[in-house]
Amino acid sequence: MKIAVVGSGYVGLVSGACFAELGVDVTCVDVDRAKIEGLKEGVIPIYEPNLDVLITKNIRSGRLKFTTDIAECLDDVEIVFNAVGTPPKKDGSADLSYVYQVARAIGSSLNRYVLVVTKSTVPVGTAAKIKEIIAGELAERGLDIEFDVASNPEFLKEGDAIDDFMKPDRVVVGVDSDRATELMTKLYKPILLSNFRVIFMDILSAEMTKYAANAMLATRISFMNDIANLCELVGADVAMVRRGIGSDSRIGNKFLYAGCGYGGSCFPKDVRALAQTAGQYGYSMSVIEAVNMVNERQKNVLFEKFSDHYKGEIQGRKVAVWGLSFKPGTDDMREAPSLTLIESLLEAGCSVRVYDPVAMKEAERILGNRVDYADDIYDCVLDADAIFHVTEWKEFRFPNWEIIKKVVNIPLLIDGRNVYSSQDLVGIKYLCIGKRDEQ
Ligand code: UDX
Repeated sequence: MKIAVVGSGYVGLVSGACFAELGVDVTCVDVDRAKIEGLKEGVIPIYEPNLDVLITKNIRSGRLKFTTDIAECLDDVEIVFNAVGTPPKKDGSADLSYVYQVARAIGSSLNRYVLVVTKSTVPVGTAAKIKEIIAGELAERGLDIEFDVASNPEFLKEGDAIDDFMKPDRVVVGVDSDRATELMTKLYKPILLSNFRVIFMDILSAEMTKYAANAMLATRISFMNDIANLCELVGADVAMVRRGIGSDSRIGNKFLYAGCGYGGSCFPKDVRALAQTAGQYGYSMSVIEAVNMVNERQKNVLFEKFSDHYKGEIQGRKVAVWGLSFKPGTDDMREAPSLTLIESLLEAGCSVRVYDPVAMKEAERILGNRVDYADDIYDCVLDADAIFHVTEWKEFRFPNWEIIKKVVNIPLLIDGRNVYSSQDLVGIKYLCIGKRDEQ
């Protein structure tokens, strides 16, 4: 089977490489010439564990190719995936201009049947618009070529993307024709044969499923953050509460970790876009709006704890930030809680020294010379009046606290991920989320 994947960003590259690994002939397309030239040589523009190995291997096997020209591969493929970006606009809605550009490009060079599948996260109703655009282009060319559209949202997590793709909890496919069902069944045959579930449904429900899944997960996090804040006020411990409720099989124990808020390229954007879609239909999704609000507030919690600890006397203080990416296993800093914290610290006149095992280059791009960059966790905390633990990378888990106590100015650790316990930190003041400070 031959397919094209348009958009060689995160979702496109992972999908393209994984389909190739499953035996499909894949051409990845992108308008960025430098990116495509790099990829041909095995230069991967994003950080994702093992993606480089998979791409290089499948380039060698001849199943993975790269081009900047959609038209070039359209005569050759049965399915075209649209996996271009849908960045947020100022009002929170998804910017679909790239998605529609691809639809126009397909319509203007299509000569035979193709199934156009949306993989990007797009608002409900987008597949219908894509169909309209392609049909419009074909009509302009005076052609009556059959084609189908489908929706196949991607649920992979950064850092675990390859495993998530190869061993999915489920694959969701929205279709409205038998031919599309047949093609998608053929494509996902290896997944079906390995007993992973492929759920077929109508296109609108598939588009909605993606948003509903991310909104549900974000809701769990904001709910637990709200509970954590109340735990602090009443004197309860959110870690105990999590274990207590997570053992109810109806609730389940995953995605219940309170912290300094969720970030990344999906949850914040998708939650806001869902509220926007509701608004367009004259409906207000109160739960979803609150999920976003609670998360924005939660991103300030670390700074507030620091400011309260020093009774507002924080100007000129030196602080260390451990972890910059929005979660471990990625260099992605989009909407990362670290950025909210660092902005507040800089505004308050603190000097900020940061360290992250992977995201230092990305941090320099975003923060420039407004912060200092450390070589490791110990170098980061030199003379610090506070250490903020923001991203739970493994290398932060068991530092040598004796060294740390010697080199800091004031031994204060503010933990946004609740991974330490005050018993292990003798001589260090420890503040975390969802447990009142008893000392
Ligand atoms: C998410 C979805 O999980 C994935 O299915 C979808 O395709 C894209 O969005 P991702 O953004 O890569 O994936 O990260 P994820 O691991 O889900 O974490 C998102 C954020 O939630 C992180 O900032 C993480 O720190 C935070 N989080 C997660 C919590 O604060 N508490 C938790 O219990 C779990």
